[in-house]
Amino acid sequence: MYITGIGRTKFGVLSKSLIELAYEAMYNAINDGPIDITDIDAIYVSNFLGGPLNGQLHLNSAIASLLPDMNIPIIRIETACASSSVALNQAIQSLSQFSNVMVVGVEKMTDSKYMNPTDAIAMAADNILDYQNGLIFPASYALIAQQYMLKYGIGHDVLEQVSYLNHKNSNLNPLAHFSYKDVSMEMIRQSPIVASPINLFDCSPISDGAAAAIISKDRCSDRDIEILSSHVSTDSISISQRKDLTSFNATKTAVKKAYAEAGINPDDLDIVEVHDCFTISELIALEDLGLCEPGRSCDMIENGDISIDGRIPVNTDGGLKANGHPIGATGLAQIFEVVTQLRGEAGKRQISDHEVGLAQNIGGIGGTAGITIMRG
Ligand code: COA
Repeated sequence: MYITGIGRTKFGVLSKSLIELAYEAMYNAINDGPIDITDIDAIYVSNFLGGPLNGQLHLNSAIASLLPDMNIPIIRIETACASSSVALNQAIQSLSQFSNVMVVGVEKMTDSKYMNPTDAIAMAADNILDYQNGLIFPASYALIAQQYMLKYGIGHDVLEQVSYLNHKNSNLNPLAHFSYKDVSMEMIRQSPIVASPINLFDCSPISDGAAAAIISKDRCSDRDIEILSSHVSTDSISISQRKDLTSFNATKTAVKKAYAEAGINPDDLDIVEVHDCFTISELIALEDLGLCEPGRSCDMIENGDISIDGRIPVNTDGGLKANGHPIGATGLAQIFEVVTQLRGEAGKRQISDHEVGLAQNIGGIGGTAGITIMRG
């Protein structure tokens, strides 16, 4: 199986509608590779909040309106922030039946007439156990950060470095939400507390955007990227049901299967995209993916291991923190970055060795995890 085309929009506070964003990403993916829209056998649409924020459900049919008379199967997938890696996984499974499948992820989070995004995002947690007890997302991740910092004896300065690195990378990515924002360590340190110890610069932003990929059974061109493995795992929705908040079992389960299927180990990875919805989740991801021992991701940050010129570059596009987090599109934006890097087409942020890459996308508070491993 191969990724034969990729496309995305800019992420940020945008004036385009949900459907216009989806169209732009799909159009760019078609124009990126040799597969024509008429060669597409099915489409998987990933979206989390079209109903609550845009008053728009039945998205599969809304996408069909962009493709008059094609009458192909179009299916919507929703697994919170992991929606697009799960949609990709389902598209890959469908290649037993189809030759070319498109996956498109889209979210329009700003400027909602219907609901505020904080309450809408909270639908990814347990309504009774979490939301009704005040656990909106920054608060849940604040509890995780508190427990992690206490267990491993690290200070907020490590989270500040994670934020700084992601903002630095996003300035090399013209499509990022914060691509032109000059962010200093001082700005990060001085930013207001959202839910202690999490401050503004520990949070991913509220973003609009879309991303798309075309998956084909057969290789079509020398720019194609091979999919070595794709695995999804799930866990309980409420953090009150977790024994340990400093690690996500869904990530560990999915990545173990993904490494085994791909026949690789963490040392073989040249580029990794992790789901840093809050800076603490980047530290946890590095450990859950086996890139270091539990509690030692601070060393990777300190040693410069995850920088673009480091041992194992991470979130070269700026991550969710600074590339942005339009929820339904996020997992596919990670795929977009890994594919761009593996092709050697990442321009100023291009890494030097680029053979194997991994994307980790999680939903909610680690309730869903999608892992994709690719080879150039
Ligand atoms: N990081 C850095 N700067 C941010 C930011 C973020 N996450 N979010 C907003 N800003 C900046 C804006 O660019 C703006 O800057 P400017 O004045 O220079 O233009 C300023 O802060 C105010 O923006 P605004 O949109 O009014 O911020 P807000 O207070 O409404 O939202 C948060 C800030 C942190 C509450 C919001 O970004 C948030 O909820 N993030 C978490 C999203 C989330 O939970 N996602 C799911 C994760 S699983």
